[in-house]
Amino acid sequence: MHSRSELDLAAIRADFPRTRHAVYLDHASSHPVSVHTAAALHRYADWLLHDVGEPWWPAWAGPRDRSRHLFAELIHASPQEVAYARSTVESESNLLNGMAEFLGDGNVVTHDLHYAPSLYNYEVRRKNGLDVRIARHRDWRYDVDELARHVDRQTRLVAISLVSNVNGAVADVRAISQVAHDHGALLYADIIQAAGAVPIDVKDMGIDLAACSTFKWLMGVKGFGFLYVRADLQGQVVRPSQPSGGVQFNYQPWTAAADPHLPAISWNPTAGPAQYEVSYPSYEGLLSSQESLAYILRLGVPGIRAHVRSLTDRLQQELPALGYTSITPPSQDSPICAFTSPDPTATLERTRRAGIHVAMRFGNKLRLSPSVYNDHDDIDRLLAALR
Ligand SMILES: Cc1ncc(COP(=O)(O)O)c(C=O)c1O
Repeated sequence: MHSRSELDLAAIRADFPRTRHAVYLDHASSHPVSVHTAAALHRYADWLLHDVGEPWWPAWAGPRDRSRHLFAELIHASPQEVAYARSTVESESNLLNGMAEFLGDGNVVTHDLHYAPSLYNYEVRRKNGLDVRIARHRDWRYDVDELARHVDRQTRLVAISLVSNVNGAVADVRAISQVAHDHGALLYADIIQAAGAVPIDVKDMGIDLAACSTFKWLMGVKGFGFLYVRADLQGQVVRPSQPSGGVQFNYQPWTAAADPHLPAISWNPTAGPAQYEVSYPSYEGLLSSQESLAYILRLGVPGIRAHVRSLTDRLQQELPALGYTSITPPSQDSPICAFTSPDPTATLERTRRAGIHVAMRFGNKLRLSPSVYNDHDDIDRLLAALR
């Protein structure tokens, strides 16, 4: 029978009112926020309406650093290794810019199961002279041997998605990290399809650099996220690509009276994760992620994972008999499973009529990504609609 988890599913479903109207199975695109996160955003909207500027950071909010600490706990990093960021793709691009000297005339190895806009970024850099090598999947898997074929002593960076948005394939990140490190290269992981959904331990997994934003499995908003940079790489190997702050002017208009003992300009470069942060962070992002990260940590990622696995296991077992061919490797620690649909138009028509929201990507690929509040009745409804 279906595996049962320790989670209080009725309470979790009540936290996500979307469960009352429809069966939503597309969290790999965007996750709804919980009622708790929505309440935080409502408080923020009220502050914008009535109190903005007094004080500068809402007095009722937790410390501005709280999300940094919660995210660090989630991925087993130090808060000193976590910077606020605007998005995943922008962070990866900023890292590449900040690593220009380290990359030198070396090469970057990436993978065709990585996110398409990131591959686009690499293709443009290839046009501009960077040696970029793209390993291909084999049977819809990350194949470590195939990837290793592209890595040599000139490789500086290996860049992958930990969980692929295409089909949910999970990279064997420890083995890939080993290959990278054996050749003196670093490993970057796009963790947006993993963070909040599967356990992540960046140290244990050998991940040197990572990024994600919060609108998927972190149950937050778009345009806000996190960048992880291993402590010993900060500043030297990974320089800030957009320098900001760290300068004091000792002349008008910047001071009431110039101090004759100080130079006109004093430099005090920003250290730690703040060196990668430019401008104000998104307050919507900070406040919503305070709520949602605390929520996820309260439920516990292993419990979330065990529950979602019971749902995706059923999909993997039962959809092939209905004519849907799985393109997700079995027994993966992934919240996503994908299938080629024999008739994508009919599939979408049937699911829509049944009030079920799924994704049809890249022409004929039915992508299903249940989350912690979905239940086996949701899966029953989907299977009935496709029967
Ligand atoms: C693997 C992957 N990376 C990145 C993104 C985009 O994230 P962002 O808007 O944070 O760049 C997505 C989804 O939209 C994704 O699936």
